Amino acid sequence: MKGLILSGGTGTRLRPITFTSAKQLVPVANKPILFYAIETVRDAGITEIGIVVGDTREEVKGAIGDGSDFGVKVAYIEQEAPLGLAHAVKISQDFIGDDSFVMFLGDNLIKDGINSLVDEFRRDKPNCQILLARVPNPQQFGVAELEGGRIKRLIEKPKDPPSDLALVGVYMFDSNIFEAVNAIEPSWRGELEITDAIQYLVDKGYQVHPHVIEGWWKDTGKLEDMLEANRIMLEGIETRIDGSVDEESRIHGKVVIEEGAKIHDSVIRGPAIIGKNSKVLHSYIGPFTSIHDNVTITESEVEHSIILAECIIENIGSRIEDSLLGRNVTVHRSERKPKAYRLMVGDNSEVEVL
Ligand code: TTP
Repeated sequence: MKGLILSGGTGTRLRPITFTSAKQLVPVANKPILFYAIETVRDAGITEIGIVVGDTREEVKGAIGDGSDFGVKVAYIEQEAPLGLAHAVKISQDFIGDDSFVMFLGDNLIKDGINSLVDEFRRDKPNCQILLARVPNPQQFGVAELEGGRIKRLIEKPKDPPSDLALVGVYMFDSNIFEAVNAIEPSWRGELEITDAIQYLVDKGYQVHPHVIEGWWKDTGKLEDMLEANRIMLEGIETRIDGSVDEESRIHGKVVIEEGAKIHDSVIRGPAIIGKNSKVLHSYIGPFTSIHDNVTITESEVEHSIILAECIIENIGSRIEDSLLGRNVTVHRSERKPKAYRLMVGDNSEVEVL
């Protein structure tokens, strides 16, 4: 079996971060989401992985290389534009050949892994196995309608959902999927939809097995989902202090302080992670916060947030919460007159002020 991880797309829901960076490389608990995807596929015993890349190809290739750091062999498949998940499958036909494969969306996280699901697929040998999870907002997902445990219909983002069973971003196929992706037409939004391709398999009498999962899973396409993923992944860390913490500081709960990081006269309440060479001075870092490398936080409070590398947060006098700061962002209090908010933020940014 092979793996196919999708790391193209436009990432409109995560702008402005995605103007300059691949959303799959945004770190949760200081590790890019895409790394979790590769490890999940590898841990299911699949070591030959194709990664579909788009505009952010160079950044993705730079981060993953040939896959040897992960113990896998990676091939890159270039998608000229984000023309849909089924289009990504279509252009991967040469890489997949006659093998079966797992397709994994590179911005999805599935906490319990996919080992037992892959085993089930290998054992039962259906033509396709899809994962479903109950969600409160099925309108935002591909949704499955089941009848007697079998799939009757799949609908992409239905206005009037027939069930609350959303398609999780992990699919297993044998090579019959290529017949489907070559037969379907683009949808109204101009994409080759994977739901249409699977519907084609159902209609042609191929065996499509649904598997409803109970464990935690997340599509991290939006800020609040990214923060939730960060929360869940931080819950799993173990305390490790490789940096320095002075006498005046207090560390509570599960906290990772990476090498070269300095904590001075501060309180860190875990679960939280402070990246390499970052400095936290006279500050409070609250639960569910991931601070990446080379960040400086002075006289400030940060909680339930993801702060990317090289940021500076200085003397802000109130707490930053539920936030995602891109790389090299500066937030500081100014004594300049007139007293006012002075902002320089990219397109599609969102700023909430007190
Ligand atoms: P989506 O999150 O559905 O799409 P997107 O990345 O374009 O984001 P948005 O809706 O915010 O604009 O994509 C799921 C995953 O599949 C994600 O990792 C990107 C990847 N993908 C491709 O590689 N090629 C594609 O053509 C599409 C549509 C997505």
